[in-house]
Amino acid sequence: MQKVVGSNPIARSILPGAQPRRLSPRFRFRGQRSSNGGRWTMLSALALALHALSAVVWVGGMAFAYLFVRPALGALEGPQRQTLWRGTFARFFPVVWGTVGLLLLTGYYMVFGTYGGFANVGVHVHIMHLLGLVMMAIFAHVFFAPWRRFAKAVDAGDRETAAQNIETIRKLVALNLTLGVIVVVVASGGRFWG
Ligand code: HEM
Repeated sequence: MQKVVGSNPIARSILPGAQPRRLSPRFRFRGQRSSNGGRWTMLSALALALHALSAVVWVGGMAFAYLFVRPALGALEGPQRQTLWRGTFARFFPVVWGTVGLLLLTGYYMVFGTYGGFANVGVHVHIMHLLGLVMMAIFAHVFFAPWRRFAKAVDAGDRETAAQNIETIRKLVALNLTLGVIVVVVASGGRFWG
């Protein structure tokens, strides 16, 4: 009997002299207002869901392009490969802008609305914030520099310039994919150690 009660938090809490279970200040109940001004509501749940979905689309899209499409394209001639990347990125990059906007909006909503500011979040959120901003800066550079040059060169039939720029895009996508995987690992497990 003692063993069952000892390992049962509900039984423990109704016993005389029982200690209330301590919860991390970051684990709160729905609608509860915290002393730091943040608030856990259904909007917090929606923000986190949209945040995670945006990360899945951005990081998953890069993983698909880099790890699966790229190796399979070895069978095609250079010009055909460039045309395929032209069409693929013309569809993917606008979606990435959308995920960047959603990550920022939902991320800052959670930091300021749910947690009451950066002073109250775990170290994993600070790491995610910093690496996330670096990833966004790299993406903006890819979009405005090599991608624009690549698309123009493919349209003009300038295969040499296109080849140089797709190589730059490849390296930067590899870097962002690596950062993205690190961010997802830190962000998703961080609440248990951050
Ligand atoms: C740059 C600004 C960003 C801010 C301010 C931000 C903020 C946050 C916050 C506050 C959380 C909740 C953490 C918790 O409850 O312990 C979170 C979770 C998360 N974030 Fe971010 N984030 C940002 C960027 C990113 C980026 C770029 C990615 C990935 C590409 C990302 C992926 C995730 C993931 C996977 C989770 C965990 C979802 C879950 O498992 O519950 N975040 N973020």
